[in-house]
Amino acid sequence: MKDVDLVAVADQSPAALRYAKAFGVTKHYQDYEKLFSSEDLDAAIIALPNSLHTDCVLSAAEMGINVFVEKPLAERSQECEQIKFAVQNKGIKLMVGHNFRFHDCILKLKEWIQEGVLGDIKLATFEYVINGPFSVSLLPAPIPEWFFAKDKISMGIMDSGYHLVDLQRWFFEPEPTILLSRFSDVYNLPYEDSATIISESGETRCVTNVGWFCRPPDPLKFNFRVILHGTAGFVSTDELTPNRYLHAVKEGSKNIARRLSHRRIRPLEYTYWQASYYREQATFLDCIRNDEMVPVTAEDALKVARTIEQIMAKVPQRENPNVYSKSS
Ligand SMILES: NC(=O)c1ccc[n+]([C@@H]2O[C@H](COP(=O)([O-])OP(=O)(O)OC[C@H]3O[C@@H](n4cnc5c(N)ncnc54)[C@H](O)[C@@H]3O)[C@@H](O)[C@H]2O)c1
Repeated sequence: MKDVDLVAVADQSPAALRYAKAFGVTKHYQDYEKLFSSEDLDAAIIALPNSLHTDCVLSAAEMGINVFVEKPLAERSQECEQIKFAVQNKGIKLMVGHNFRFHDCILKLKEWIQEGVLGDIKLATFEYVINGPFSVSLLPAPIPEWFFAKDKISMGIMDSGYHLVDLQRWFFEPEPTILLSRFSDVYNLPYEDSATIISESGETRCVTNVGWFCRPPDPLKFNFRVILHGTAGFVSTDELTPNRYLHAVKEGSKNIARRLSHRRIRPLEYTYWQASYYREQATFLDCIRNDEMVPVTAEDALKVARTIEQIMAKVPQRENPNVYSKSS
């Protein structure tokens, strides 16, 4: 990005640091605490495995460093509360990576809901069924082992379902009430890898389907949609997303132009949904530059975590892989 210096990276993996070096990052640390105390930073971007977010965010906050942290803010609402108070006490900015809010089609829905274009929304469907950690990259890559840790409270819901829970509460008020949760574990993992949730946000009844079992043959396909049914109209995000091939060709051409004029390319823009990552980062950096409030706060992440805990509490015991031993 223009006007941004990537000062240093920290990763315990030498391979990851070599990767950063190949991208021109000159300062490397294996210990993020050392990075925080050694460098003069405006902000840190934290993209560690979920269970390590809390310690790292608290450490950055302690040093007065603004933070962008990947979702989930933390694995449990209690930890989110702890972070929320630390952020308030230290007066830093903290934004959480709810990148789905930055998809064009979602921004359009938000606008229509606010303007009442569809009337009162009575029914909403949220769907995100992909292949989770299984081969998301074009080249084969090992799946990080933290995805298989047995001490998680949830994975499928915490990982992909998280975005859908956030969108529901961003679109509608009041906070969701969970009526029914059903989990499955298609891959026999130590936790759920797919789920259906029925909930209510005030007068809006919502159905949420999330899963990790679908591996589309076409890597440009993105199996995510929101469907809204209001008293004055209906819409699906499928109608609001560009043709994926035309989009890839258009963005590819822009990158060729960038290369020819010696500018940085934007490899993620080939797929329309990955543009959301640039937008959320740009928004965060603008908030730091202009001293503005960030659009996704610790409070937002805390409320998502609380809703996920409600979802977990509604799962019948025999379906919850965390409490039901498969071998018994
Ligand atoms: N918003 C989204 O759509 C989205 C997409 C992917 C990942 N994520 C989130 O991003 C985070 C990272 O996910 P990922 O898939 O990139 O994981 P990953 O395992 O591929 O990367 C994590 C990195 O952290 C490093 N690491 C682990 N322990 C460390 C430690 N103690 N100190 C320093 N470095 C350490 C690892 O070496 C690795 O390079 C997760 O919280 C995940 O939920 C969000």
